[in-house]
Amino acid sequence: MGGVETEILPADAPGVARAAALLRAGASVAFPTETVYGLGARADDAAAVAGIFEAKGRPAFNPLIVHVATFGAADGLARFPEAAKRLAAAFWPGPLTLVVPMRAEAGIAAAVTAGQPTIALRVPENALVQALLREVGLPVAAPSANPSGRVSPTTAAHVMAGLSGRISAVLDGGPCAVGLESTIVGFAGGPTLLRPGGLPAEAIEACLGQPLAVQEGGAVSAPGQLASHYAPRAALRLNAGAAGEGEVFLGFGPGAFDENLSPTGDLSEAAARLFSTLRALDARGAGRIAVATIPDHGLGRAINDRLRRAAAPRD
Ligand code: TXA
Ligand code: MG
Repeated sequence: MGGVETEILPADAPGVARAAALLRAGASVAFPTETVYGLGARADDAAAVAGIFEAKGRPAFNPLIVHVATFGAADGLARFPEAAKRLAAAFWPGPLTLVVPMRAEAGIAAAVTAGQPTIALRVPENALVQALLREVGLPVAAPSANPSGRVSPTTAAHVMAGLSGRISAVLDGGPCAVGLESTIVGFAGGPTLLRPGGLPAEAIEACLGQPLAVQEGGAVSAPGQLASHYAPRAALRLNAGAAGEGEVFLGFGPGAFDENLSPTGDLSEAAARLFSTLRALDARGAGRIAVATIPDHGLGRAINDRLRRAAAPRD
């Protein structure tokens, strides 16, 4: 379904300038963040935002995260409850998204928030996206740069594999350091974990001095919360003690595995390698993957969340 030739832009000043010019002109441009690659469009332009939904095949009820370079820029778009201010001060720039009440005068296209009164905001840390956001000088809406429902991209090559011919450009900043999408926290009825992610919930709870409420399915209009999401082609079986007939054994920590997310049992390394490993197993034609148990704390909680969604039955 191509239409445009997707430009691959280098991680230098001319590359950033070209990406910024395309974004300002209303095009869809993919760029690295420390979590995963995002597919950006200027958030104040309904036609530009529609281009993202079209390129991804994303359902319209699924709102987008708006990326800005500084807390000051975020503060111009939304009202931050005290707890949100505290988290922004502690963890921005970084892998944390805050869902807060949008200001009436924010000027954000309605599709970005799916018509809700709240907006998801993030100040990313990656140096290239910081340079890009400063040069664009506008809020940039960006979901992960993958076709809807598929595994998020952690390299420019992953972006091209899914979206080449459907987007104007990708800014190639190499592999993403964190490798999992941002942690999302909302504040309706107290600080609530909407999606575990690249910032461990324990760090957020320590900062707030209180436990996070956890959003249980149902009301969430967060597609990251759709049961089947982040799906590779292969079928997954979780918490496997051993590989069965015809299964590839994906491990964590020491042991005899076909592939290993982290032989030393390092959750940061496992997070950074998760999506590229699932893609590599798909590429080599693994039909079924048995996944060893991964500890359910720190980044392990987000890894297990993504694995559960990848293992969920699909339509
Ligand atoms: O790390 C990340 O968060 C990456 C990079 C590119 O920043 N972005 C990302 O976007 O993962 P996406 O679209 O794949 O996931 C965004 C999630 C979705 O589950 C969406 O429903 C939720 O954020 N979301 C966005 N706006 C929201 C809102 N106003 N209220 C509740 N959830 C919202
Ligand atoms: Mg996504």
